[in-house]
Amino acid sequence: MALILGIESSCDETAAAVIDGNGTTLAARIVAQRIASQDEAHRPYGGVVPEIAARAHVEVLGPMVEAVLADAGMTLDDVDAIAATAGPGLIGGVMVGLVTAKALAMAADKPLVAVNHLEGHALSPRLADPSLQYPYLLLLVSGGHCQILEVAGVGQYRRLATTIDDALGEAFDKTAKILGLGYPGGPAVERLAREGNPKAVPLPRPLVGSGEPHFSFAGLKSAVMRAKDAQRTFLRQAQDERSEANPETQNPARPEPVEGRQPYSDADIAASFQQAALDCVIDRTRIALATAAPGMTALVVAGGVAANAALRGALEALAAEHGLPLVAPPPKLCTDNAAMIGWAGAERFALGYTDPLDVAARPRWPL
Ligand code: KG4
Ligand code: ZN
Repeated sequence: MALILGIESSCDETAAAVIDGNGTTLAARIVAQRIASQDEAHRPYGGVVPEIAARAHVEVLGPMVEAVLADAGMTLDDVDAIAATAGPGLIGGVMVGLVTAKALAMAADKPLVAVNHLEGHALSPRLADPSLQYPYLLLLVSGGHCQILEVAGVGQYRRLATTIDDALGEAFDKTAKILGLGYPGGPAVERLAREGNPKAVPLPRPLVGSGEPHFSFAGLKSAVMRAKDAQRTFLRQAQDERSEANPETQNPARPEPVEGRQPYSDADIAASFQQAALDCVIDRTRIALATAAPGMTALVVAGGVAANAALRGALEALAAEHGLPLVAPPPKLCTDNAAMIGWAGAERFALGYTDPLDVAARPRWPL
């Protein structure tokens, strides 16, 4: 392995990192990394606007690459290869990162490694935990993907499960939108859920009990929407009844019961949603563990939603049931970053995989 400059720009994070593939600890492997989130730019729209994202990557990436090399005390001449996300993702952003990497590779006469963003997530647990060996069972949960894969080596992935509609992160983001928590939604839902009762709102667990380990979250999202509507109706009626009885009571912070009908708060909706979603994930992953090839060394979780502490706790218990360790990267390596792209680049480069300078950016690219 070697020193790799990694670049990530497939969604709303612009990131660059220098990775030492020979490092034996996480700290030694990440020589330097920088990340710029575009959350502020997209917040008014409640989601990522591709055109805004691409323009922001253009503005930020060049200076960021210079800065991260300076942080590492290096110049481009010192790195052995340049790795960039070549897909899947928002194509404008992917092109910005990939074209930048191609230009640097050409200027410095260095090899280019085109990295699949999902492979970045899939191998990130090996960056974080040097003892993690192939093969492992991977739950990959992000804003765009929700899959269970056997990871037998670099480029050796067997998909056991995928989602038939929404990704898990998407379900968190939509729930956040329904509850008016803004963007990005996952961390906000997790925070609010801590204050709520996970049993307050009855919500469906789509596909739980089915023999194939696939996922579905669209029905759960619709149920969250209906729960929010029911809460609004309840509050309106309660308000009407109260102001008839006592015109001075306005907008109580916490809804109160009216004639035995129990109201629930937004925190209750968040907690109930999170519980339902996690119940689905645990049930599906249990099926996958039962159907996976023998010899898995660990249950591994990666992708943005792997930052969720409740999910990590539930998976830990599931892994223990099967006598396996749970390996989860630190939360900062779960959400999009360039260290994972540099690391995947290092693993590929060590096996001799490099790409021609005319390699294409791909909006879709299954593992
Ligand atoms: O991997 P990632 O950064 O980007 C994609 O490749 O999609 O994942 C982003 C997703 C978003 O849907 C975000 O809401 C979710 O991960 N996420 C979380 C948490 N942190 C990020 N979901 C639940 N709980 C969290 N703490
Ligand atoms: Zn991602």
